Amino acid sequence: MRLKATNAGPLRGRVRPPSDKSISHRALILGALGRGQTTTEGLLEADDVMRTAQAARLFGARLERTGSGAWSIQGAGGFLQPGETIDCGNSGTGARLLVGAAAGYPISARFDGDQSLRKRPMNRVIGPLSQMGARFDSAANTLPLIVHGGRLKGITYRSPVSSAQIKSAVLLAGLEAEGETVLIEPERSRDHTERMLGVFGAAIDSVEIDGALHPRVRPSKLTSAHIYVPADPSSAAFPVAAALIVPKSEVRVEDVLINPLRFGLYETLLEMGAVLKLEERRDPIGEPIADIVANTSKLKGVQPPAKRSPSMIDEFPILAAIAAFAEGETRIVGAQELRVKESDRITLMVNGLRACGVNAEELPDGLVVRGGGPKSVRGGASVRTQGDHRVAMSFLVLGLAAREPVIVDEAEMIATSFPGFADFMRGLGADIQEVA
Ligand code: S3P
Repeated sequence: MRLKATNAGPLRGRVRPPSDKSISHRALILGALGRGQTTTEGLLEADDVMRTAQAARLFGARLERTGSGAWSIQGAGGFLQPGETIDCGNSGTGARLLVGAAAGYPISARFDGDQSLRKRPMNRVIGPLSQMGARFDSAANTLPLIVHGGRLKGITYRSPVSSAQIKSAVLLAGLEAEGETVLIEPERSRDHTERMLGVFGAAIDSVEIDGALHPRVRPSKLTSAHIYVPADPSSAAFPVAAALIVPKSEVRVEDVLINPLRFGLYETLLEMGAVLKLEERRDPIGEPIADIVANTSKLKGVQPPAKRSPSMIDEFPILAAIAAFAEGETRIVGAQELRVKESDRITLMVNGLRACGVNAEELPDGLVVRGGGPKSVRGGASVRTQGDHRVAMSFLVLGLAAREPVIVDEAEMIATSFPGFADFMRGLGADIQEVA
């Protein structure tokens, strides 16, 4: 499916983006590992998360959908031997977290995924989980793979990259390992697993090593919980960004998770001169939430510090798109992880930006966008997304403020994280249409 975005007047209104994908995966996985009935409110029902729901069933949990976003998960108190392959679809988070959790149990589980996921590195979890005692059958350290779990030993693992997926895989395996498991990473990545493990009654705390705090887990049996899932800041980024670059816009994006380890894009936008306000701050669930009000803004180019990358890792595509509308250079560095996401997001963003008439350049670990101000972006291109949902949404937002329409291909993949994106944006006044 191809979608076309055309420049058509201001964006106005209030919206509630889809719920957080990271928290949704974790609610299903921890619910399935625990005993008792876990319930959710606002679970994201996007393709990626539905794959994890199906995996939870195959690992022995009973799941029931009682309403929109309302699920009940009857955990089996651990993962049981699945009767078929766990197909994680497009989801790296689902695959890596589930492999970690499965490694704790005396079962053999086969994992697979779609074409994109089959290319993504799994050695980053195979390495530490093997050190803990799990065994793997995998031709090239990628999917498909089989994990043979059970009888693990806790380790202190120094991860070479800041990745919540690696951290979570190791901590989840640590729930069933002998002794304690500690995860050290260069910069802190999102901490939803740690927070939610606490809610499910796990023995999790932090230890100070080399002057920084790192999560530590001891063997634990999880209980059950009620999990409310706020809106995903990574999805909220698209209407917020669109409001900043489409003239005369004002958009209120409600109920957004503002966990500091997810907030790097918003810090960067403020440094660019964005008119953004956080209102109705609250913390009802052990995660901070707010409404974000965004107005059309005069933006200037920036260089976000490399250490901020983990807190905005999924937002670089949309940052690169709106940097084209800023005055001056935006230089993204320390973001080499972008090359192993759903696509190589550095190459794809630079190619797409150039096709739209933007001055952009690849760096080994990032990219440079030389913006020419509000009316500078020509657009007028058909952009290849290689099925990457965030690349597709980023170019559609760009098309809303470019002089000529922008078309993206494989737009059906947007449903992996943001079902109904085109309707959602149309509700704010955007012109996004399906084309042949
Ligand atoms: C996620 C972690 C991030 C992010 C992904 C979701 C998670 O990956 O890109 O979309 O829920 O743990 P890495 O932590 O591997 O960078």
